[in-house]
Amino acid sequence: MTFSRRSVIALGLIISIGPLWGGITKTEAKPTIERQAFGKTADGAPIDLYTLTNDKGVEVRIMTYGGIVVSLQVPDRDGKLADVVLGYDNLEGYLRDNPYFGALIGRYGNRIAEGRFTLNGTSYQLAQNNGENHLHGGVVGFDKRIWKAKGVTSKDDVGLQLTYLSHDGEEGYPGNLSVTVVYMLTNNNELRIDYAAITDMDTIVNLTQHSYFNLAGAGTGNILSHELMLNADRFTPVDKGLIPTGELRSVRGTPMDFTKLTSIGARIDQQDEQLRFGLGYDHNWVLSNGGGKLALAARVIEPISGRVMEVYTTEPGIQFYSGNFLDGSIVGKGGEVYAHRYGFCLEAQHFPDSPNKPHFPSVVLHPGEKYRQTTIYKFSTE
Ligand code: BGC
Repeated sequence: MTFSRRSVIALGLIISIGPLWGGITKTEAKPTIERQAFGKTADGAPIDLYTLTNDKGVEVRIMTYGGIVVSLQVPDRDGKLADVVLGYDNLEGYLRDNPYFGALIGRYGNRIAEGRFTLNGTSYQLAQNNGENHLHGGVVGFDKRIWKAKGVTSKDDVGLQLTYLSHDGEEGYPGNLSVTVVYMLTNNNELRIDYAAITDMDTIVNLTQHSYFNLAGAGTGNILSHELMLNADRFTPVDKGLIPTGELRSVRGTPMDFTKLTSIGARIDQQDEQLRFGLGYDHNWVLSNGGGKLALAARVIEPISGRVMEVYTTEPGIQFYSGNFLDGSIVGKGGEVYAHRYGFCLEAQHFPDSPNKPHFPSVVLHPGEKYRQTTIYKFSTE
């Protein structure tokens, strides 16, 4: 891949300090956002890659195809940066075979049973792209759409605004849905994602982000020794097809209990029907704060590097997926093979199959209302 065009579109802050005591003048230029060409789709559509850097040296690269987070460099306890998300070195990888690495997901994150639901007495048939079920927005979900991008840098933060208009009938969904997603990289080492959407017809919406994390560095090993806390007393058990049964079940006394920091691998191979159905963890937890306001949902620690990731969200649920379908067939960034459970996802969301579960929090959006969702991935060390 060659980058013919490389343009600095916003230089952020130019801070000049000094001269002190008639001495040295220090010039810093942070935060910054840069754009470069990242290749073309099969149809010849050009894709851009944006590099956002904060004043701590944390860097995130996001492309206009799928709104995909291509890389995310964060420091370990010694300040050494590593890329903590799985993905590919170039666009071709993402076009060829992408199990949603880094992608924005919509209109509906997670599964809808048989791709079917009824709204105002009308029944809708969505694309069935996961056996008989609908998964992550269908055959060509938001993860495979090209988003319009615009830098939105402020004094302390650097951001990228992405917009996409999903037409009435796309993948079977009713209504024209206008979607805005803003990724902000703050100087507190947070990647903040603000989602918004409006519709011209009653519809359903459940947006999320599908980065696969490995806090030791993408491609360095599996994630089983990461320690995880989920701020949830209950989860939504599933059937064999990973569709919730409708029950909100207590995690107490089960391998689903992450109320205290526990290594991901500690119980993953236990004899347990839910782990058998998920081939490991692939479930939605019911967040104790109930959604609506920004609250801590999850905390993950990688003991060797000391990297910590916290997830805050306004959503009522979070899907914890332990990368069970990674089987070594994907060669990712830097030629590293992504073997079984080399990455995990924490997808803040409404519960799976909500359109068919009236007692789950509603995912219906009406004209005149605004869908909003905020999720923050915050990085630190200990
Ligand atoms: C789902 C998994 C699915 C994966 C696709 C996750 O969000 O929960 O079941 O296989 O996405 O990569």
